[in-house]
Amino acid sequence: MRSTSSQKKLILLGATGSIGQNCLDVVRRHPERFRIVGMASRSRVRELLSAAAEFHPEVVAIADPEAAETWREQFLALGAKVLTGTDALVEIATWPGAELVVNGLVGAVGLLPTYHALRQGRDVALANKESLVVGGAFIAAAARAGGASIIPIDSEHSAIFQCLQGEDSGALRRILLTGSGGPFRTWPPERIYQATVDEALAHPNWVMGPKITVDSASLMNKGLEVIEAHWLFELPVERIEVLIHPQSIIHSMVEFEDGSIKAQLGMPDMRVPIQYALSYPERLKSDFPKVDLFAIGHLDFEPPDFGRFPALALAYAAAREGGTSPAVLNAANEVAVHAFLQRRIPFGRIPEIIERTLAAHTSHEPADLEDLLEADRWARQRAEEFAREG
Ligand SMILES: NC(=O)c1ccc[n+]([C@@H]2O[C@H](COP(=O)([O-])OP(=O)(O)OC[C@H]3O[C@@H](n4cnc5c(N)ncnc54)[C@H](OP(=O)(O)O)[C@@H]3O)[C@@H](O)[C@H]2O)c1
Repeated sequence: MRSTSSQKKLILLGATGSIGQNCLDVVRRHPERFRIVGMASRSRVRELLSAAAEFHPEVVAIADPEAAETWREQFLALGAKVLTGTDALVEIATWPGAELVVNGLVGAVGLLPTYHALRQGRDVALANKESLVVGGAFIAAAARAGGASIIPIDSEHSAIFQCLQGEDSGALRRILLTGSGGPFRTWPPERIYQATVDEALAHPNWVMGPKITVDSASLMNKGLEVIEAHWLFELPVERIEVLIHPQSIIHSMVEFEDGSIKAQLGMPDMRVPIQYALSYPERLKSDFPKVDLFAIGHLDFEPPDFGRFPALALAYAAAREGGTSPAVLNAANEVAVHAFLQRRIPFGRIPEIIERTLAAHTSHEPADLEDLLEADRWARQRAEEFAREG
């Protein structure tokens, strides 16, 4: 398919996931504005092929090499080159001619494509919060070196980003990061400890991929978002406060030095922040469901309970410690969530495994990205050992 000069050319990483599919829906609604030139996934190749048949990318990256070989001819028949192997995500993120990389990958695997895209001067619409949690300092430096921007997709960070438009960031006093509280918001600790996979995956307001849904139930997602906000908005974590807001209508707020608070409201629908990130600084029309405040009636707020949700406290502690600690926190969490989803450990062991992994680690300032990735590998191994110990 030919692209026109008015179409923004996108690379979509994680095209088969929840963010990826929502992004494709936004592009489908604005074909005159956006064109997908590349897309990447890991192993859900049938879904990737069906997206390729609809959006005609020039290139696809498939992480699973066997799947890439099995399906190569079918992608070639659609006019798409197939990349695979360890460097495929970086190669597609820096593909010539693209203007914006949408990173909807899950986990620390998103770090290198974000880093290299920014270094090359390419803007990144970022859903993959793990990029910033693991390598925030390196990502910020890459954006500076490349003269590129990160446009947040996470609804909370999109809200903060929108509230800060036209404001002097020096006048920002506090970020009030909202979260629904997840499915276990009102549960007693013993019940949370024994929660099943199905219970953890039943998020009250959002439909998302399994890892972030479990993170939302443990409040680790909010913890990762605190670290993400710290890097995006250059604010110390002490000035980023979490507020439980069960309706998920206010997506976050910012408080300025004069005491004024600005909030961004919307329905819990990821297509809204994705569309904003794609069209920024413009706003496009949409027919997505709109907020009806009369129907909602009231908006509630409560403080987070760090006792029942220790993952949030661990994230704040790792953020304060800095160095390699956030990377270790993230890696241990990925391993523990995976073990929980495989029904190998109870829900309550997720924060225990993270805490033990952090306790076994001596944080240091990473000299380079390889040093950071080594801390990530070490933490995965330790966390897996702790998960097996039972
Ligand atoms: N979902 C949401 O509404 C939401 C909201 C805010 C922020 N986020 C953030 O957005 C990111 C994505 O979340 P999600 O819910 O969309 O996750 P998801 O549904 O699990 O999708 C993850 C995507 O990443 C791909 N992927 C995973 N590992 C890969 C690898 N090694 N190489 C190449 N591709 C790989 C998957 O490919 P396969 O399908 O082939 O496995 C899939 O396309 C996360 O960082 C999350 O925290 C999500």
